[in-house]
Formats: sequence, C-alpha cells, structure tokens
Amino acid sequence: MSYASGEVLITEEELQNRVRELGEQISHDYEGERIIAICVLKGAVVFMSDLIRTLTVDTMIDFMAVSSYGASTKSTGVVRILKDLDSNIEGENVLIVEDIIDSGLTLKYLKDYLKARKPKSVRICTLLDKPERRSTDIVPDYIGFSVENRFIVGYGLDYNQLYRNLPYISCLEEVKA
Ligand code: IMP
Ligand code: MG
Repeated sequence: MSYASGEVLITEEELQNRVRELGEQISHDYEGERIIAICVLKGAVVFMSDLIRTLTVDTMIDFMAVSSYGASTKSTGVVRILKDLDSNIEGENVLIVEDIIDSGLTLKYLKDYLKARKPKSVRICTLLDKPERRSTDIVPDYIGFSVENRFIVGYGLDYNQLYRNLPYISCLEEVKA
C-alpha cells in the first residue's frame, strides 16, 4: 500500500489567518514581558517560523527534539530528549510550540521536564489538537484548530518524513497500486 496527500482540510489562507490571530492573542497576553518560544522539532518548525513573525513582544527562540521511547508505535509517555535547549530558561516565560497534540503524552512529559528548570511560566501553543485521542490531563493554552481523528500531513507534519513542505494541511490517503 502506498500513500499520498489527499483531501485538503485547512487551506494555506486559513492557516495564515489563524496563525496571525494566535500571534495577536499571545502578544496581548504577554504584553510588557518577554518570551522564549521553544519549537518542538521537526513538526513544529513551519508553524513556529510563521508564528514568531506575528509576535510583537520580545521573543527569543530555541529548539528541542524529542522522540517516544522505544520502537513501539504506541506512545509510552516516556520521552527521549534528542536535542535539549541551548538557553537557560530560569525565570523566563516559556512558550512550547507544537504541531499537534494527540495523546498528549509527549507534551505532558516536556512540560514537567521544563518546569523543573524554574521558568517564570510555561504555556503550550499547538497548531492542531486531536481532543478525542487525549489520554492525559494536559490542556494547551493556545490551539489553532481542533481536528478529527484522521492522520494528517502538511505544514510541518509528516508521514515517514514526507509532506512537511506542503503549505496546507491535508489527509493522508491510501493509493491503490
Ligand atoms: P502525542 O504524544 O500522542 O500527543 O504525540 C504527538 C506527536 O505525534 C506529534 O508531535 C506528531 O509528531 C505526531 N502525530 C500525531 N498525530 C499526527 C498526525 O495526524 N499526523 C502527523 N503526525 C502526528
Ligand atoms: Mg511533533
């Protein structure tokens, strides 16, 4: 079985408009403060680069790469840190920027991991949310779009590392050989 990008769920224009709205809301909420936006690699890289250009508060950026522990496709809740932050976040406002929250296990682990470094605050901004799939009590502070439980690609999200470059969000579709 092979796969291809199928039905478009969120167009490029819808994405850009919503990202601008999120940026306005975040800029408003942190007025007079500064933030460190932390991109969770690789999926959030496209969203992050658009989002930070809409922010009007002082913004620093940093990157983390994580993977679920082990070879199992099921998230275990234990996350391996592949790349840690370069910056010291003590006393800073941390904004974790994620592509999608599914079970929530990755972000739950990450939030607790970063909180241990004594930042002033930690919030989560996710472009996409699959609330149906949640298995933790994690609640994102900023959500771009809620989506149904289908596998989606584009705008940073991949299937086997492909489709991250699409400027829109679409469903992954099976292609009959
Ligand atoms: P969680 O720990 O189950 O919340 O895992 C979230 C991670 O799974 C995201 O950061 C994505 O990398 C990946 N993921 C979940 N759903 C999708 C999807 O529909 N398309 C692409 N990646 C997904
Ligand atoms: Mg991800």
